[in-house]
This record gives sequence, C-alpha cells and structure tokens, in this order.
Amino acid sequence: KGQSLWGGRFSAKPAEIMQAINVSIGVDQRLWREDLTGSRAHCRMLADQGIIAAPDAEAILGGLDAIQAEIEAGTFPFRDAYEDIHMNVEARLSELIGEPSGRLHTARSRNDQVATDFRLWTRAACDRTIDQLTGLQRALLARAEAHAGDLMPGFTHLQPAQPVTFGHHLMAYVEMIGRDVGRFTDARARLNENPLGAAALAGSPFPIDRHATAKALGFDGPMRNSLDAVSARDFALEVIAAASICAGHLSRLAEEIVIWMTPQFGFVTLPDDLTTGSSIMPQKRNPDAAELVRAKTGRVMGAFIALSTVMKGLPLAYSKDMQEDKPPVFEAFDALDLAVGAMTAMVAALKPDTARMAEAAGYGFSTATDLADWLVRELNLPFRKAHHVTGAAVKQAEALGVDLAGLPLEELQKLEAGITADVYKVLTPEASCASRQSFGGTAPEQVRARIAEWKERLS
Ligand code: ARG
Repeated sequence: KGQSLWGGRFSAKPAEIMQAINVSIGVDQRLWREDLTGSRAHCRMLADQGIIAAPDAEAILGGLDAIQAEIEAGTFPFRDAYEDIHMNVEARLSELIGEPSGRLHTARSRNDQVATDFRLWTRAACDRTIDQLTGLQRALLARAEAHAGDLMPGFTHLQPAQPVTFGHHLMAYVEMIGRDVGRFTDARARLNENPLGAAALAGSPFPIDRHATAKALGFDGPMRNSLDAVSARDFALEVIAAASICAGHLSRLAEEIVIWMTPQFGFVTLPDDLTTGSSIMPQKRNPDAAELVRAKTGRVMGAFIALSTVMKGLPLAYSKDMQEDKPPVFEAFDALDLAVGAMTAMVAALKPDTARMAEAAGYGFSTATDLADWLVRELNLPFRKAHHVTGAAVKQAEALGVDLAGLPLEELQKLEAGITADVYKVLTPEASCASRQSFGGTAPEQVRARIAEWKERLS
C-alpha cells in the first residue's frame, strides 16, 4: 500500500533509504495551488476534447475542490509514502472520488505536470517580487525627494571624492532596483510558456489541445518542443540570477547603512524597532537587519550555484536530479522577500543627520576637482597641469592645517600666479554640487528632475 500509483511492475516496496532520498513532499507541497490549477485545466481540456467523459471530469473537478478545501483547512494528509505533491493529490483524489480519479492522468506525466506547476509558481513569485521592489523604489524616492539638496560626501575607494547630495545617492539605488525589476519582468515574459501536454517527453497520442491549456493557465502559448518542455529549467536559473543581482544591490545599500550608522560616520540612525541591543554591552545599538540583508545575499547567490550545478550535465529529457530544482528557487525567493521587506522598512525609517553629513561633505579636500576645473575654465590651463597645481595646493593646505577654501590667496598665487579671489566661489561643497548640472549629475535640479521622471514612471 502506498505505491499504488506506479506499483504494477514491482513486487517489493522501496527500501527505507530509497524513500528517504526520493521523498520531496516536505518541499514541493508549496506547489499545491499550482498543482490543482494545472490539473483543473488539464481535466477540462480532456473533457472538451472528448478524451474523458463529462461526468468523470465533473467528479474530478469536485474532488480537486474538496482537496483544496482540505489543504486550506489544514486537514489534508501530506504523506511521505506518496513522494511528492502530484502523487499526494492524486492519491487523495482516489480516496475521495474513487475510479474517475484514475482518468485525470491521461495524456499527462509528472514530468510535464511538475514543469507546469513550477513555471506557474515562479511566475507568481516574479509578480510578487516586482511589486515589492516597486515598493522599495517608492520608499527610496520619498526619501530622495526630502533630501534632494542635502549634502553628503561622495566616495571612491571609500575615500572622500566629491560632494554629492543624499537624494542623489538614494536615487542611484532607485536606478539599480529599476533594472532589477526589468530583469524579473524579462524573465517572467520568457518563462510564460506552457509545458503541459509534453507528457513524459515525446508528446501525446491523444488529441489534446495544448493551446487551450496554455490559455487557461495564462501562458502565452504551448512550448514548441516536448523534450525541451520537460527538460528546461533555465527559467528558474534566470529568475535566481535576477534575484542574485538584486540581492547584491540590496547588500551594497545594507553595507552602506552599516557604515553610516557607526558613531565614526554618524550619518544615519535607525529607530529602536529596527535595531537590536547587546546582551553584554549596554551602550550597543546594532544594525542587525542591514547585516542580515547583506547576509541573505549568500543564500540567493548560493541558490544559483546550486541549481546550475544540478542542471549542467543532465542528458535530455527528465532526470530525477531535477527534483532538486525547487529548494534553491524557494530559498532564493524567501531570502529575497525578507531582504526587500527589511530594506524597505529601513529606508522608510532611517534618520539622517543632515548637518553632520553636510559637514563631512567638505572633509578630505573634496572640492579639489572644482579647483582644477576652475583653472582649466578661467586660466585655460591644460587639465593635467591644473591637476598638478591643485595637488600642490592640497599639499600646502594639509601642511597649514586648513582646507582648500581656507588657503590664503597668496599661497594659491605662489602655485599659479593667475589665480584670483574668484576661485573661492567654487571651493564650497554647495557650489561643487550645484555646478554639476550635466544630465544625471548631482546638482539638486538634476536630482529633482530624475525624481519627477521616476514618480511619473511608477504612477
Ligand atoms: N517530484 C518530481 C520532481 O519534482 C516530479 C516529477 C517526477 N517524474 C519522474 N519521472 N519521476 O521532479
């Protein structure tokens, strides 16, 4: 008992270790809704094509509804003996409605069944993720708008580089997340084809209508090659590749929040409810959520490696290896879901210390490039020469313990005789930012223009 679905040619039941390595119901029960949806579409198509009789189809559909009610009520018996979600549903259907249940699997194999279920699940996961990422973009946009003109240091090599605005910095992530949404959207469009009807691998001798099931399941059409339909998992790889890139973006922002929250930087704080304390050090306020967003990236990227390794050497068509496709995809989406949620909450709640950030924007001779650019513009120096003069000015300022704007005019004139007091206008962080009016630059007008465009795109 318990192997009745394929037991005909067997005289012994599986060894305990066989069952232990083979069982997947603990994982793939998450596909129950998709499995029922796929079975309903298949059943209706079989009846419409006259492959099964209408009363049998009615009985099957009624049974599937009853199963759904059991699962929703938490009373459905998920049994290891029936291996996976597909056989658990069919076994239960047989208990509920008897003989007609045996007709549901006509012109179908678990190979096209699981491929169908998994595509449906992944499609819905893409839709959820796109929604969530759009929510994160909105949170970033709101904060960027509030701080479009607030200065902060821009870094390269994590060394002070040139002043930017906090709004500009946040908008960089709006762009990244926008491309992530694009990747999920593209992957979703490519995966939206129907494997159902490929049957085991070669197609079916029954007069099935794969266009009808495609339509019923919201697919754009049937997959065009039955071997490919049951063998392909690049759709799953593609979405976890998109998830990996996205998790990498979240991780970079998480890392910045961790850095910004150190007392040494002191750029932002997070409220109590998004931080944790220490069990020993009473003064601590730790950015655990940001750290975990950073760490979840490991799971997501690991999932991509796991699944590509499972798939890379498999001969066509189905091999049982492919049962190992679901844990990485589920894990990647679970991790990403938490990461996006936590990041959205942090972005919405973080409190920047704008005075401190503005002060820091002037540290480290951050307007040196502005001095060099002034020498090029006003004195027509070649940029390389201007770079050299400015370097000497920085050296002199360092020696005198002042910043560039604090360097007396005669000191500057020692380095380049043509310099006038006019130069001081470009040496403040405000002036530096305001001057960067090139498209996509950090001037507050530019930042506000990009914010307006994104608000329009997201509305
Ligand atoms: N549980 C299986 C999986 O997820 C379903 C397909 C089984 N097919 C087979 N030929 N054994 O891959």
